[in-house]
Amino acid sequence: MQFPYSRPRRLRRTEAIRSMTTETFLTTNDLMAPLFVIEGKNKKEEISSMPGYYRYSLDLLLGEVQELYQLGVKCVLIFVKVPDELKDNAGTEALNHEGLMQRTVRAIKETVPDICVMTDVALDPFSSYGHDGIVRDGEIINDETVEVLAKMSITHAEAGADFVAPSDMMDGRIITIREALEDTGYINTGIMAYSAKYASCFYGPFRDALDSAPGFGDKKTYQMNPANVDEALKELMTDEDEGADIVMVKPALAYLDIIRLAKENVLIPVSAYHVSGEYSMIKAAAAKGWLNETDAMMEVLTSIKRAGADLIATYFAKDAAKYIRNK
Ligand code: PBG
Repeated sequence: MQFPYSRPRRLRRTEAIRSMTTETFLTTNDLMAPLFVIEGKNKKEEISSMPGYYRYSLDLLLGEVQELYQLGVKCVLIFVKVPDELKDNAGTEALNHEGLMQRTVRAIKETVPDICVMTDVALDPFSSYGHDGIVRDGEIINDETVEVLAKMSITHAEAGADFVAPSDMMDGRIITIREALEDTGYINTGIMAYSAKYASCFYGPFRDALDSAPGFGDKKTYQMNPANVDEALKELMTDEDEGADIVMVKPALAYLDIIRLAKENVLIPVSAYHVSGEYSMIKAAAAKGWLNETDAMMEVLTSIKRAGADLIATYFAKDAAKYIRNK
C-alpha cells in the first residue's frame, strides 16, 4: 500500500500506540555485570578511565553482588586484579585454589547462591607480560596456554562457578576446557566463549582497571582483525561445535553486524560485551554535557539487544536495572 493510504506515522502518534508497537524490550534478565576484585578489606577504588566504576575488595564486592541481584541482574562476570609479585609467565597464580578468583567465587556462592557466577579465563591479569598466553621468543604459545586455561577452569568449577568464560582467543580452548570439565565430573559447568573477540582499542580502560596492558606488542596474533566478518562466523561456529554453551561477540557497538550474524547462524544464546571504552565514551560525553547519559545508555543497550544479543555484559548493568525497575 502506498501513501497516502500507508502512513507509518500513525503507529508513532501516541505513547500508547508506540508502546504497543515496540519490538525490542531490554529487561534485567538480559544484563550481566562485570566486576573487578582486589585484595584487601574495605576497599573501593574508582577506576580513573571508567568514571563511576570501581574495584572492590571481596568484603565490599559481596554487597555489590547482593544489590545487583536484588535489582534483578542475574549474572556477574568476575575479573581479578593480581599483585605484580604474583605474576609470571606460566599463569601459576591462576591455578591457586586459594587465589582471589577462587575465593571470590566461593564467597559469592555462599552469600548470593542463586546468582549466576561466571569467571574470566585468560592469563593476562596473571601474566608478567600482560598477554593472554604463555610467551616464548616474543610469541604467544597456543597449545601450552590452552592446557593452563583448562586447569584454571577446573579450579573455577571446583570453587562453584556456574560458567567459565574464556576470553583469551587461543585456538582449541573450548574443546580442551569442555573435555577437562567432563573428565573431572564438572558436567554442569557451562562455557561462555568469547568467540568473536576483536583486537579493539576499546579495551583500553579495562586494562587500566586490571593493570593488564600488554608489556610488548599488541594482541593482534590472537584477537581478530576488526575488518573481518567471515572469520567471525568461523570462530562462532567452531566454538559452538567445540561445546560452548553461549558464544560472545566483543566489543558490541562497533560490531552490531557481527552480533546479528551470530544470532542468525548459531543455535545457542549469543552474548555481547559492551566494553570499557564504550562505557567510558558515554560517561565522558555526559560529563561534558554533550549527551544525556541515561538516554545514551538505554539507546545503546537496546540497540545491542535489537541486533540479536540475548545477553549483554555491561558496566551499566546496575544503572540500567535501576532505570528499568523505575520506569
Ligand atoms: C582479557 C580481557 C579483556 C577484556 C575482557 N577480558 C581485555 C583484553 O583483551 O585486552 C576487555 C573488557 C573491556 O574492555 O571491558 N582477557
